[in-house]
Parts: sequence; structure tokens; C-alpha cells
Amino acid sequence: MTDKLSPSDWSKYVAARRATALVQDGMRIGLGTGSTAAWFVRVLGDRIRDENLRVKCVPTSTRTRELAAKVGIATISLDEARWLDLTIDGADEFDPELNLIKGGGGALLQEKIVATASDEMVVITDATKEAVTLGAFPLPCEVIPFGWRTTQALIEETLISMEVMGRSSALRMSGETPFVTDEGNFIIDLHLNRIGNARQLAMVLNQMPGVVENGLFVDICDLVIIGNPDGRVELRDIKEGTITEEQISVGDEVNIFSDLN
Ligand code: A5P
Repeated sequence: MTDKLSPSDWSKYVAARRATALVQDGMRIGLGTGSTAAWFVRVLGDRIRDENLRVKCVPTSTRTRELAAKVGIATISLDEARWLDLTIDGADEFDPELNLIKGGGGALLQEKIVATASDEMVVITDATKEAVTLGAFPLPCEVIPFGWRTTQALIEETLISMEVMGRSSALRMSGETPFVTDEGNFIIDLHLNRIGNARQLAMVLNQMPGVVENGLFVDICDLVIIGNPDGRVELRDIKEGTITEEQISVGDEVNIFSDLN
């Protein structure tokens, strides 16, 4: 089974493995959404079972809640948890300041609420998500369905005065119909190519009527764990200002991978 994993999956898996070492008994943990976060959920499920950990987990999407249930992780709502010790999530892009673009999977609203409600937010990723400047990945913007075309036009007009290198946008589709988020909203993907001032753009977008939230995570992420297919992980800690490398040994993954069948 393990030889069938792609290099990308191995990278995500080893990053997830390293991230589980941050989990301690009794913690309240935010569970991200996406293919990388899914690896974390699987590995954490294994650890909870093996070590009988008593952790409380808050998922950031229906998808993640369902996966957590499948691997035996009991979840609670953010309202029950109130505040979290740690959130582990993936990202679509991260820059040298550990600012992020998120929302490629459409869960950016809950992800941002949960990450902001956490003492520490850790991103797990492979090396492909690294960017000198954010913006090559289209920036997801969650909008309410009412008047979305007007909101889209307003966003594009506002982008004229922003430090970006493109301003076309597209309603995200799911087949023939608009993609609908867990909160019943739409997503408009902004093709900006380069975002010169992520902090400013995030604030301006969120001031527009109709915009619920945008996928820029500025000053939220504390640590990025970058996995590699050979088991090496790099840890970039923004508060400590450190970059460290470690080697993750693999070989006892039977439970994790059996879930993929
Ligand atoms: C989900 O809405 C996103 O924010 C994901 O965290 C992000 O798109 C990364 O997903 P992958 O791990 O699947 O690349």
C-alpha cells in the first residue's frame, strides 16, 4: 500500500506526522480542511487510539468532521471549546512572513475563525506551496449569494487601486452550479498574480458589503512544517525566527494507510 503513495502524499504525510508531535494530552485542537489536513486527522486518530489521548477537536468543515468520525476522533463545536490550544491546517500558499492564501478547498471561513481562536496555528505543507510573494494561487473570497454579481463587480473595481497584478475573477463552480460553502455562501476566486500588500488587501476586501471573508491569513500562522518525500521536514517558526530540519522515520503506518482503501 505505502509504495502507492505519490511523492506529494508522502510529503504531506511526513509533515502531518511531525505536527502530531505538537499534540499533548488534554489539548483543544482545531482540525483544518484539505488533503494535507486530512493526513493530520488520520495520523492524529491513530495517536489518540494508541495513547488513549483525551483531546477535544474542532473541525473546520463538514468534510473534516466526517473524516474525524471515520478515524475515531470525537469532535465538538467551537462554541463548546471556546478557545483552542492548537490548530493544524494546510495552505494553498505561504510567504516568508508565513502569511497564507487559503480556501482552495472552500472552507476558508471556518478555517479563519478556528485559526484565530487558537493559541498557535501550524501549517503543514509540501514545498510546492512556498511563494516569495502571495498571489499566483487565485485568492478565494467568500460572498453571500444575494447580489453576488454586484459584489464581484465592486471587488474588481476596488482592485484597481490595490497593489495587485491582475483583477479578473470567477465564481467558483461545482459542475453546472455555483460551489456552495458550508455556510451556504458562494466563492469568487480572484486572479491577482501578485499581491503586493496582503494586509491592506485583506482589510479592504472585508469592508465590502456582500463579502463575508477572504482567504488571506495575515499574522495568523506561527509555524510552517514543510514535508519532503524522503522523510525530511523543515520547521519555520516565525516568532522564534528559526528554521530547523528533522528526519521523520516511517514504517509503522499500517493503520493510517488501511483507511485509504
Ligand atoms: C481548504 O479550504 C483550504 O484552505 C486548504 O487548507 C488548502 O486549500 C490546502 O489544501 P490541500 O492540503 O488539499 O492542498
